[in-house]
Amino acid sequence: MLLNGKVIAITGGGAGIGGSASRLFAKEGARVVILEVNAEAGERTAAEIRAVGGDAVCIRTDVSDPDSVREAFEKIDRLCGCLDGLYNNAGVFLGKYDNRVTELSLETWEKILRINLFGVFYCCKYGIPLMKKAGGGAIVLTSSSAGVIGIPDCDAYTAAKGAAVALTRSLAVEYGPDGIRTNCIAPAAIRTEMVKESNLNDPKFDEQAFLDHGTPLRRWGTPEEVAELAAFLFSDRASYLNGAIIRADGGITVM
Ligand SMILES: NC(=O)c1ccc[n+]([C@@H]2O[C@H](COP(=O)([O-])OP(=O)(O)OC[C@H]3O[C@@H](n4cnc5c(N)ncnc54)[C@H](O)[C@@H]3O)[C@@H](O)[C@H]2O)c1
Repeated sequence: MLLNGKVIAITGGGAGIGGSASRLFAKEGARVVILEVNAEAGERTAAEIRAVGGDAVCIRTDVSDPDSVREAFEKIDRLCGCLDGLYNNAGVFLGKYDNRVTELSLETWEKILRINLFGVFYCCKYGIPLMKKAGGGAIVLTSSSAGVIGIPDCDAYTAAKGAAVALTRSLAVEYGPDGIRTNCIAPAAIRTEMVKESNLNDPKFDEQAFLDHGTPLRRWGTPEEVAELAAFLFSDRASYLNGAIIRADGGITVM
């Protein structure tokens, strides 16, 4: 199995891309720690995994709260004694509130950055020491099409997702010498609850026109397809990948 015996923490691991990653990583032999603000979704996913013989636990965690994150990693240390992988996947879009800078409230700017960017900082801050203890490991950050091309009217989201790209590069060079590889996945058009919020719930959004003219593969991506890439990045098969920014978007951003 691809991830046999590895302890991997997944933020937002209860639903969407994170939920698929939790299930796949466990199937590939990992001990999965789901760090979820939605404890019900996290517990449900962990229970589903255990029901089919996998190893998963959920720790209720709000990644935007440094105390919650510190306590979660202290618990991982107590439960598992180390950490081999950290998947910084949790994020929010908040399409009703995010906007171009002149129309964006300070509260929304701060709220989105606290979850999508500060959360990554807190998890790396408290997670990396556990990886060093394990003698190495792998980190995956989550950007977006908004982190690699210009997308209008979601500037707080864009700022956080651009920072994920920049931070991936610095973490890769800083912690590479400790045997910790850092890579970044930039998804787009993956059909989850977030896409409903960012596109499908918008009455002006024409789904068929988007699929026919905006997606080279003429379809949405699935959370399972992103999870496959993440599993590879955490596996020893990706042992020379460090600092890579990989677009998981069916070619949307190169069109
Ligand atoms: N779906 C896409 O097309 C797409 C595109 C670009 C980027 N992304 C990124 O991929 C990641 C996953 O997106 P998704 O589509 O699966 O979203 P989703 O909304 O389906 O799932 C996100 C998960 O994160 C959790 N979460 C939210 N805030 C949290 C917090 N403060 N602490 C802990 N957990 C929290 C939610 O409870 C949820 O389970 C996000 O970072 C998102 O920005 C997704």
